[in-house]
Amino acid sequence: MHLAIIMDGNGRWAKRFGWPRLAGHKQGAESVRRVIRHSPKVGVRALTLYAFSSDNWQRPAEEVSGLMRLLAHFIEKEVAECRANGVRLEFIGRRDRLPANLLPAMERAELETLGGKRLHVRIAIDYSSRDMLLTKMRPGMSREELTRCLGPDVDLLIRTGGEKRLSDFLLWECAYAEFHFTHVAWPDFEESDLEAAVAEFEGRERRFGRCTIKMNEPSSVSC
Ligand code: IPE
Ligand code: IPE
Ligand code: MG
Repeated sequence: MHLAIIMDGNGRWAKRFGWPRLAGHKQGAESVRRVIRHSPKVGVRALTLYAFSSDNWQRPAEEVSGLMRLLAHFIEKEVAECRANGVRLEFIGRRDRLPANLLPAMERAELETLGGKRLHVRIAIDYSSRDMLLTKMRPGMSREELTRCLGPDVDLLIRTGGEKRLSDFLLWECAYAEFHFTHVAWPDFEESDLEAAVAEFEGRERRFGRCTIKMNEPSSVSC
C-alpha cells in the first residue's frame, strides 16, 4: 500500500503551549520517526511525506531557515537506522533552491539507503505537484509513462491538523486515493492513529468507477 501524509498542524500545536512554531516542527520530527518505524507493520510499503511545499517559502525567513535546519538534522540522524531497517529514503521536489548543506545530506541519505526493500519513504521538500506535472509531462505521453515518472498511485492519503485540502500535493497520484482527514495535530500523531486510519481504509470499498463487486462472490457482479 502507498500511504501519503500531509503533516499539518505543527504551528497550531506549538501555539497551544505558547511556544514558537518551530517547537511544533521539532516535535513533528518525532512523529515522522514513529510513522516510519510503524508503517511496515501495518502493510505500508511506500510512504510519501509532505515536509515543505514550494508555497512554504512564503513563510517568515526565520521559520523557513529553522525548518531547513531541522530537515538536515533529521536526515543526518535517521540514515543509519533507516539503512539498518531496510528503509529506502528518497526526496521529491525541486533541489535548486535548497540551502547548500541540505543537498549533500539528501544525496548521501539516498545513496546509503538505496538497497532498502522493506519500506520506500519519499520526503517531499520544495514540492509542488503542479510544477512537478509541468516538468515531467511530455506531449504524447501515456498515463503509464507519466505515472512511472511521478511515482505510484496513492492508496490512502492522511491529512492531520484539521484542514481538508490537498495544498498542491500529489494531484495526479491521488486520482483514486482514499482520504482520511483528522483533527489530530501532526506532533500528536501516534502509532494508534496510523493503525486506526489504515483499519478504516481497509473497510472501504474502492470501485475505480466500476459497479459494486462482492469480493467473496466473484460471479455476482451487481449493478
Ligand atoms: C505543517 O505544519 C508543517 C509545514 C507546513 C512545514 P504547519 O506549520 O502548517 O502548522 P499549522 O498549519 O500552521 O498549524
Ligand atoms: C501543506 O501544509 C504543506 C505541508 C504540510 C508541508 P500548509 O499548512 O502549508 O497548507 P495550507 O497553507 O494550509 O494549505
Ligand atoms: Mg499548515
